[in-house]
Amino acid sequence: MDGVTLLSDYKPYPFEIASVSLTFRLDPAATRVLATLDVTPRQPGADMVLQGEDLTLISLSLDGRALVPGDYLLDETGLTLPAAGLPAGPFRLQTEVEIAPAANTALEGLYMSNGMYCTQCEAEGFRHITFYPDRPDVMSRFHVRIESDLPVLLSNGNPVGQGPGWAEWDDPWPKPAYLFALVAGDLRATSGSFTTRSGRKVDLNIWVRPGDEDRCDFALGALARSMTWDEEAYGREYDLDLFNIVAVDDFNMGAMENKGLNIFNSKLVLASPETATDTDYERIEAVIAHEYFHNWTGNRITCRDWFQLCLKEGLTVYRDQSFTRDVRLGGLKRIEDVAALRARQFREDAGPLAHPPRPDRYKEINNFYTATVYEKGAEVVGMLASLLGPEGYRAALDLYFDRHDGQACTIEDWIKVFEDTSGRDLSQFKLWYTQAGTPKLTVTEAYENGTYTLEVSQTTPPTPGEEVKPPRHIPLAVGLLSPNGDEVVPTTVLELTEARQSFRFEGLAARPVPSLLRGFSAPVILDRATTPAEQAFLLAHDTDPFNRWEAGRTLARQTLMAMARGEGAQLDYLDAVGRLIADEEADPGFRAACLRLPGEDEIAAALFARGDTPDPDAIRAARRKLMKMLATRHGAALTRVYDSCAVTGPYSPDAGPAGRRALRLAVLALLTTEDGGARAAALFAEATNMTESIGALNLLVAEGKGQGQLAAFAARWSKDPLVMDKWRMAQGALTPPEDAAETVTRLGTAPEFDWKNPNRFRSLLGGFAANHAGFHRVDGAGYALYADWLLRLDPLNPQTAARMSTAFETWRRYDTTRQAHAKTALARIAATPGLSRDLAEMVGRLAG
Ligand code: PHE
Ligand code: ZN
Repeated sequence: MDGVTLLSDYKPYPFEIASVSLTFRLDPAATRVLATLDVTPRQPGADMVLQGEDLTLISLSLDGRALVPGDYLLDETGLTLPAAGLPAGPFRLQTEVEIAPAANTALEGLYMSNGMYCTQCEAEGFRHITFYPDRPDVMSRFHVRIESDLPVLLSNGNPVGQGPGWAEWDDPWPKPAYLFALVAGDLRATSGSFTTRSGRKVDLNIWVRPGDEDRCDFALGALARSMTWDEEAYGREYDLDLFNIVAVDDFNMGAMENKGLNIFNSKLVLASPETATDTDYERIEAVIAHEYFHNWTGNRITCRDWFQLCLKEGLTVYRDQSFTRDVRLGGLKRIEDVAALRARQFREDAGPLAHPPRPDRYKEINNFYTATVYEKGAEVVGMLASLLGPEGYRAALDLYFDRHDGQACTIEDWIKVFEDTSGRDLSQFKLWYTQAGTPKLTVTEAYENGTYTLEVSQTTPPTPGEEVKPPRHIPLAVGLLSPNGDEVVPTTVLELTEARQSFRFEGLAARPVPSLLRGFSAPVILDRATTPAEQAFLLAHDTDPFNRWEAGRTLARQTLMAMARGEGAQLDYLDAVGRLIADEEADPGFRAACLRLPGEDEIAAALFARGDTPDPDAIRAARRKLMKMLATRHGAALTRVYDSCAVTGPYSPDAGPAGRRALRLAVLALLTTEDGGARAAALFAEATNMTESIGALNLLVAEGKGQGQLAAFAARWSKDPLVMDKWRMAQGALTPPEDAAETVTRLGTAPEFDWKNPNRFRSLLGGFAANHAGFHRVDGAGYALYADWLLRLDPLNPQTAARMSTAFETWRRYDTTRQAHAKTALARIAATPGLSRDLAEMVGRLAG
């Protein structure tokens, strides 16, 4: 098939490369890369295929003998050495190539960011550096020499020598090329150290550009916390004497787990109270942990091929989520993670881009770094943990590390360790990895003579290319409450394996109220006839914090759906919110999470799921109206909370104060719909931290106000691009829909706006795509503008252009007028000559 890679075509690489030695002579326009590969043939008669793209071949030799063009085949994908010219035993292959890092705007391979050199090799960036078998199952020992006048020269592993203008590094752990990294620049370190529990002393460094040193302490602390947690929770220690993290300003993703040399988007390292929000702090800690945890789940045990990406990503997300829950947020973490899963992954699973956590085909692997691979992949690991229990899970993981250390593995290997340690058959469970789609559980119930029966059926709607969906193995955690609010059956995990099943609970004195899918025990959609009164009861009484939140969320969503259809608001909801505002026992962060209304996209998705055609303008109006109603009805109580929970004293990003700030801002969001923005303006004026400053500004912008504050913010922060991204994001996402396209057009054409920096265009395009009513404008202006942007971005940075195109994944939800505009925009992109493979694949799937 045309440019498609298939899982079923996997074949082991016919050569072993025990070691590779690289020399980099750095130069912005003409860097030379010399590579020496020590090769052992593993299969007689095999050609040697090396990937290489955009490389100028300078020389090539085999065992010291120069090869000439007739000896090899060179095309735009790489170099092939025909079997006939290869020795039967071990040989040494040497190449020299030239590359131009300064011209590399795609930010894959070796590139430059603000005068420093850095690399990004996952998934297939190494082929932009030198000719090599660029696939994760080829693992080698890397020795690296860097020649440059820049003061700091870094690579993976341990430093083994340095002098004026050069440094050498050796990584003792064999690794695939995607984990290679090199950094060279004028950098400053914030340093610390960590002693592992077996006594190894590890030097820790956070490297940043001069001037940013004072914003690294939090990241350094987060690294040490991560190292401690992985020893305690998984028994995993760090395995080198040095751990380096480098912050770079131009980076396509969040961060990268290169062995011993993690490279981070600077927005996920740098933090100070004045410039970073509580949410930024939380994310920085989570991403530092995530990349650190990859050292075992990803690096020591890697993926056989890129179809297995969720083997490392799903597991590592599950690990970082557990870490944040343990060290920081408790039950609130699950609420945040599920809200994000639904907003991103359920949306993906319900649209044209739906795919299994382990896909079986792709055109461009960069397009599979998705919410499904990451977040759903983490849910699947979580389900294994709940099916096996904490000890069973730990036993399986111990076996995984024991059995597979140093290997490149598959999902089959992963499932096998769970089968072998538990003695269970997980072949049905495996469907979670190999099939797309979000199962829907329909629940009915009966109560008679003290016996309560739950009848559960499951169906999964078809997804592109997958019509037949057999039943899944689903852990369904349930508890039962008595009508007076006591828990009569504590959390129990029911296992669904059939299309329809019933479960009986006996000896109950009265008809119970069920609390289903506690802790969101499986990534499914629950469909059960319920009353607002029952949801309000659960919001008040459930012992499971997730389900308390969920009850409030369901009430809010149902009210908003009814209002968007022109019906009135539910009194149960308004009253329940009143009780919550007044509930001083409840954790402030939890109350904040409950007070935040579902977003417009979530309401649109819910309406579409029940067969309605969502109207973005009506949804927006309903949401604003409900906020106003809450403010009118509970104004006095809200004002009391707002006035009483101000956080004083020096700033701390800890969960306690952060939760209080979140509650105060959630309350302020409601009050702002009524007070003309007076309180938000006052908060903006007095704020001493970014959480409150941008929080207040967001609310003003959403009211169509805040011009003065926007100007003041820009004047103060114009030299700090990361902070200005928040300013851009606020305007893109929150400007009222009638002005949004015009506003973002102005921001995108401003002279200081840099179309080569991913953080810049993510803030602008990402903000606008999140402006539901603005993006989905009925005249199609939002779609047209967005298409223009993607076409502008694609030649510079295809990977990010393709990611940003997911803004179009929901167009089928809307009316035929909007659909026609969206189709026109997608067709215009598809018809543009010279489109990247990344964006071409995406628009094909989006339109298909
Ligand atoms: N592997 C990185 C992570 O999940 C993400 C990444 C993928 C970064 C591809 C860059 C390029 O931590
Ligand atoms: Zn990862």
